[in-house]
Amino acid sequence: MLLDNHGRRISYLRLAVTDKCNLRCFYCMPEEGLEWLSRAELMTYEEMLRACELLVKMGIDKIRITGGEPFVRKDIMQLLTALSKLTGLKELSITTNGVLTAQHVPALKAIGVRSVNLSLDTLDAGRFFAITRRDEFAAVMQTLDELLKHDIEVKINTVVMAGRNTQDIIPLVQLTKELPVSVRFIEEMPFNGDGHDYSGVLWDYVRIFDEIRNVYPDIQKAPDPLYATASNYHVPGHKGGIGIIAAYSRTFCGTCNRVRITPQGTLKNCLYDDGVLNIKDLMRDGKSNTTIVGALYTAFNHREKDGWVAEQKRKDNPDFHES
Ligand code: GTP
Ligand code: 5AD
Ligand code: SF4
Repeated sequence: MLLDNHGRRISYLRLAVTDKCNLRCFYCMPEEGLEWLSRAELMTYEEMLRACELLVKMGIDKIRITGGEPFVRKDIMQLLTALSKLTGLKELSITTNGVLTAQHVPALKAIGVRSVNLSLDTLDAGRFFAITRRDEFAAVMQTLDELLKHDIEVKINTVVMAGRNTQDIIPLVQLTKELPVSVRFIEEMPFNGDGHDYSGVLWDYVRIFDEIRNVYPDIQKAPDPLYATASNYHVPGHKGGIGIIAAYSRTFCGTCNRVRITPQGTLKNCLYDDGVLNIKDLMRDGKSNTTIVGALYTAFNHREKDGWVAEQKRKDNPDFHES
């Protein structure tokens, strides 16, 4: 078992395969996009696979491939297929904005992907455009459809934003009546395409929950899987479930089991650190697997206890880009 310096198990890798995105969610990036990485700065699939192989041998048993939209990257199914064959990996999953995923759902099913997290902040096409600045609502809904048709477990991620989509909370809960999906409401984190805003969050997990309970007074607590970031609930009679992720209030750092690798190969012990080493650079410097594994163990021995508190100390971080 892979443990960090606080005795927390590390079992979950989030690997972001691209910095490019086909949406422009206002809370994530500016309208004009970001300065995209050059091809040479990106990890190749060979490098990603090698990194994953080493990490799985060390004790990682769940890998989540993230974007934006992982399918923005050409031939990403090749990487997913190779990863699906890794001995010791129990779960391979993706988080996507769903714009390009629909046509790949049968292939995902075929390689054994059992669950997909889909970012969807609203059920209204107009509000979707206002939030993402792109007219892709229909494509995302088609992805949702395909996933359900292929019996893939779906978690919908909805960032709750004052003045933008709070009117979607109840319709999204209603969606769980007929559809076996888990809708997870996420507190907006204090970052946006233009910089930082630490002024607090208007819709925290308590307010989100109260909003739902007002309409569904019989809502019940549901079990939370080990290491989950979401607190889960269930409305009796509904096929799906509800989750609330206290991303701003940060109620889950104490059981954090995850590490991240950015598209350029930077290993991050926390969403909020700037990176502790660059795996791609070690590989391109010709370092052996033994040396790289040694560097990884050292990194995992220097994890912060509480990322949010650490972030408060580092208020001048570069712009956040959650992927
Ligand atoms: P599963 O538990 O496997 O469903 O995945 P997940 O919830 O970790 O992944 P997802 O990509 O759907 O992320 C959903 C939300 O979880 C994000 O918007 C964040 O708010 C939160 N989250 C994900 N990763 C981290 C992390 O490393 N640290 C913190 N603090 N929050 C995270
Ligand atoms: N606050 C909260 N959630 C965010 N996400 C992206 N940026 C933010 C933010 N500033 C969400 C996306 C996606 C998930 C991986 O992170 O909507 O569903
Ligand atoms: Fe793309 Fe996700 Fe950022 Fe939206 S939040 S612009 S979908 S990476």
